[in-house]
Amino acid sequence: MPQYTEEAVLDLLRRVEYPGFNADIVSFGLIEQIKIQDNRITVNLKFNTTNEETRKAVKSGVQKTLEQEISGPRIMVIEGIPTLEMPGLGGPKANDPWAGRKAVEGIKSILAVASGKGGVGKSTVSTNLAMALSAEGLRVGLMDSDIYGPSVHIMMGVDEKPMVSEDQKLIPTEKFGIKMMSMGFILDKDTPVIWRGPMVIKAVEQFLRDVKWGELDVLVVDLPPGTGDAQLSLVQKTPISGAVVVTTPQEVSLVDARRGHQMFNKLNIHTFGIIENMSYFLNPANGEKVHIFGKGGGPRAAYELGVPFLGEIPLEQAVAEAGDAGEPIVHKAPDSEAGKAFRQIARNLISKGLLERVPR
Ligand SMILES: Nc1ncnc2c1ncn2[C@@H]1O[C@H](COP(=O)(O)OP(=O)(O)OP(=O)(O)O)[C@@H](O)[C@H]1O
Ligand SMILES: [Mg+2]
Repeated sequence: MPQYTEEAVLDLLRRVEYPGFNADIVSFGLIEQIKIQDNRITVNLKFNTTNEETRKAVKSGVQKTLEQEISGPRIMVIEGIPTLEMPGLGGPKANDPWAGRKAVEGIKSILAVASGKGGVGKSTVSTNLAMALSAEGLRVGLMDSDIYGPSVHIMMGVDEKPMVSEDQKLIPTEKFGIKMMSMGFILDKDTPVIWRGPMVIKAVEQFLRDVKWGELDVLVVDLPPGTGDAQLSLVQKTPISGAVVVTTPQEVSLVDARRGHQMFNKLNIHTFGIIENMSYFLNPANGEKVHIFGKGGGPRAAYELGVPFLGEIPLEQAVAEAGDAGEPIVHKAPDSEAGKAFRQIARNLISKGLLERVPR
């Protein structure tokens, strides 16, 4: 029997399409595990839909595809228990990627800040962009939906829990003129990670519907990093005008940024563009730009993907310090190199139609 690897099997599974979508089941995060043992290949599928037909179609697609390509080992396809309901998937509206999204009254535009991987500065960008958009005269809200590491409330220097109004709605906390709601207000730091997925989706829906945002021009949403199930269900349930993808110049990070863009593409969500963070270090001695992590990666990725490059943000100690101290750099030092970069990106976003795209 030829030697099959898990990667090879996973590659074959990319040929199996998710019913009703122009996307494969691997990108949809359906493959939980592939096991190759003795004379048997076991594929564990993790569904996000309870729709029987969809599940059957995927299972038989997997079985057929693998049997066609692999001779020898027996193919076993096992289905896990349904995890999350995703109304955008399956059911009679399987072809409508917007089936699960409803507009939010009073909010003109919803901007999702995403990244393919963690630690690239997504929350730093979310908070500073919110401040920069506000400096452009817009009414801005900021929502942290990061399940694993909510940090927006820390970067904005807020630790009060939101108040509840008489009609049982949450009143967003306000700071620097920005209305805020954060997973950090709600999740206990000891909440087991396994609960966070389902919890966050409920909570984010509540943030959107049961929070007294009032009239907003833009709601900036800090998404959890990555392109897995949690992100997928979140963006499917959230009416979004468009997304920005944050990356750093390194190749690994760019690969992830491409994946992020592809996720939005598949869900028919507009990508406003790519923001490159930690692009260069400004040498304080001579004012020269030092490209520590390589140069031109962000613009190149944007070009390849056919989306705008929105700008680069320098690596500055003051940016991290401002975040730690709870006052974003755009507020603390608007004329610093990073402060100016964020403000330019905010203006670029507006000129790219941020306020003209209805969230859906
Ligand atoms: N341009 C920058 N210059 C200096 N430090 C930065 C810059 N951008 C981000 N940082 C720092 O890098 C760290 C990670 O940033 P941040 O928390 O914004 O990333 P993230 O993508 O939201 O991470 P996570 O995946 O954990 O949510 C923080 O300590 C932040 O202060
Ligand atoms: Mg973060």
